[in-house]
Amino acid sequence: MNSVYDAIIVGGGVIGGSIAFQLAKRGKRVLVLEKDRLAGKASSAAAGMLGAQAELEADDPLFTLANRSRGMFPALEKELKESSGVDIELVNKGMLKVALTNEQAAGLQNKIKTQQAAGLEAEWLTAADIRKAEPLLANALKGAMYIPHDGQVSAAKLALAFTKSAEELGVEIKEFVEVCDFLTENGVITGVVTTVGEFSSENVIVAGGAWSAFLLEKAGINLVTHPVKGECFSVLTNRPLIEKTIFSDGCYLVPKIGGRIIVGATVKPNTFNQQVSIDGIATLIEKATRLLPAIKGTEWEKTWAGIRPQTGDGLPYFGEHPACKGLFIATGHFRNGILLSPITGVLMADMVEGKPNQEWSAFRLDRSVQPIFS
Ligand code: FAD
Ligand code: GLY
Repeated sequence: MNSVYDAIIVGGGVIGGSIAFQLAKRGKRVLVLEKDRLAGKASSAAAGMLGAQAELEADDPLFTLANRSRGMFPALEKELKESSGVDIELVNKGMLKVALTNEQAAGLQNKIKTQQAAGLEAEWLTAADIRKAEPLLANALKGAMYIPHDGQVSAAKLALAFTKSAEELGVEIKEFVEVCDFLTENGVITGVVTTVGEFSSENVIVAGGAWSAFLLEKAGINLVTHPVKGECFSVLTNRPLIEKTIFSDGCYLVPKIGGRIIVGATVKPNTFNQQVSIDGIATLIEKATRLLPAIKGTEWEKTWAGIRPQTGDGLPYFGEHPACKGLFIATGHFRNGILLSPITGVLMADMVEGKPNQEWSAFRLDRSVQPIFS
């Protein structure tokens, strides 16, 4: 048995990285185990949008959590830069959620009213306003919801900044080590079994993204989760075509630092296959061209795909196994794991320190509509 850690984290994506960083800041001795490369899965496939208002509805239990997490980014950007040297490329130029039909326009106008009533900033832009703000967008747009505070980051750099900062604080990280099972004694976790041996700890946090459920079965937990593939492509431009992120039904355009635009993303449920398909990219090209005709003249860069961790009711799981003390779970962030990563780190570190927050009980493990503990 290897040396004892205060906490072992399974998964080196943005969620595992954020939890490791927060625990390390609290002086904990932490080990991160990643079966592949750090941030090699969903966390580096993400477009990096912080779409708290664009992607979620005000009555969604995730809305408050997401807005709070979004608000953590400016301070986090500085903190991570200081501790790791990595710039997460936070861009705070806002988002336009555009309407292509009158029906979508009416829906967005309602969404604006609801969010304004909740005290958030959002405003309606007419087609003429859009032409002033983003002159190269298609003339056919009916209007847009302008969300000034839905920014964006480099997802891969955020994940890297978390793990590098954690390492600076003494966290040990092992890549290409798969956790295969748990060690327990009388209903208490004592460690994990891996492909390179056993590691002991009285706290184990599973942050394995879409793969979490396979491991959790070993602890008698059958969480309602499924994988949802997303495909993207990127182009390079030699002049800025858009300033804000453009978000529409089935397609978004995210202008990155350095003249890149990320175009995403398909939504293909129930597959762990990360191959990029012709039909997926063809659909995205068609949708992107409808939004931004000038994208046709840009330089092709690359395509990629990632697997989002979805749950039965669309909410993530944050909690401790009811029958195995010290076994924690943080998974199911679906389309918003980058956005939710800062707050997830804090919330899970609180839980490990025995300070669970009742405010977030909507995400508890036993809420599932199906029986989940076998
Ligand atoms: P992952 O990044 O998948 O990391 C989990 C890690 O755990 C993996 O590296 C895996 O190898 C490891 N692991 C699993 N099981 C084991 C084991 N037994 N032993 C050891 N290691 C293990 N979110 C946003 O907020 N904004 C966006 O704009 C956005 N865009 C997206 C676009 C696409 C195309 C996709 C696919 C996702 C997007 N997301 C976005 C969602 C976001 O990427 C995910 O919610 C987030 O990355 C989940 O992070 P994670 O750490 O839980 O999972
Ligand atoms: N949040 C963007 C995506 O999941 O594609």
